[in-house]
Amino acid sequence: MNVEREVLIERDGPVGIATLHRPHALNALSLSTMKALEAALTEFEAAPEIRAIIVTGGPRAFAAGADIGEMKDLASGKAARAALGEHLARWDRIGRLKKPTIAAVAGYALGGGCELALACDLIVAAENAVFGQPEIQLGVIPGAGGTQRLTKAVGKALAMDMALTGRRLSAREALERGLVCRVVAPEVLLDEAKRMARRIAELAPLAARAAKLAVAAAVDRGLDAGLKAEREAFYALFDTNDQAEGMRAFAEKRAPAFEGR
Ligand code: CAA
Repeated sequence: MNVEREVLIERDGPVGIATLHRPHALNALSLSTMKALEAALTEFEAAPEIRAIIVTGGPRAFAAGADIGEMKDLASGKAARAALGEHLARWDRIGRLKKPTIAAVAGYALGGGCELALACDLIVAAENAVFGQPEIQLGVIPGAGGTQRLTKAVGKALAMDMALTGRRLSAREALERGLVCRVVAPEVLLDEAKRMARRIAELAPLAARAAKLAVAAAVDRGLDAGLKAEREAFYALFDTNDQAEGMRAFAEKRAPAFEGR
């Protein structure tokens, strides 16, 4: 697979657009996809003419999570840490970009896909968007910031519901709960995201940067410690049989049989 093709890059005046493009896997965020995405966003970050960045996916899926195929055979926490350390750090670095970022989400934003949207500054959703952290169904937990950023976005009650039951949120619920800032018809999703990005781009760039940092400071205090705790727990779950069972069952298209060990 041509790595460049997993993420399509477009420049529209002051707006940089990175489009996840692995439709056969519902844009599952493989090691190479995230590498290509981070490279694209880093390029936009360095380009003086780009003032706002959009991350988007396809009509059926923004991204259905980290790539389970790449994780299912990781047989220990040590192996998970070695294989996924650099991968998971990409979500953190995307969250720390200085230019304003907008996630334009249609369809599934699950697991690492939801976490990628959450790492952006703003989320605009199509009416068919579905948000969720289904990792518990695989015998693990969110490992790319979900437990922290989702909780800060929607509060403890709903974050617990989503993390413990795998409950998904519709675009409407996500709007009501403050996870997304706008919901639009799927056919105008990208137009709306571009409109927002162009509006940001025509305003003061240094102030935009400062506003983003200041708002992030309000919600992200303690984030680093939370992310560390989350990541340790995520890796440790790769020492369990339930992780192996959960991910293999997904690959084999059957229901998992969890044993609690
Ligand atoms: N990883 C790898 N492949 C995936 C995938 C993922 N996260 N999500 C979907 N796919 C693949 C499927 O295996 C399938 O491939 P094949 O056609 O080769 O079998 C293809 O995409 C289409 O998927 P489905 O046939 O399952 O489509 P569906 O419409 O029946 O279901 C879905 C859609 C509900 C999103 C379902 O695909 C699903 O549950 N996906 C997994 C979601 C998930 O658990 N995400 C969390 C991953 S773990 C994680 O992200 C950890 C972290 O925090 C970093």
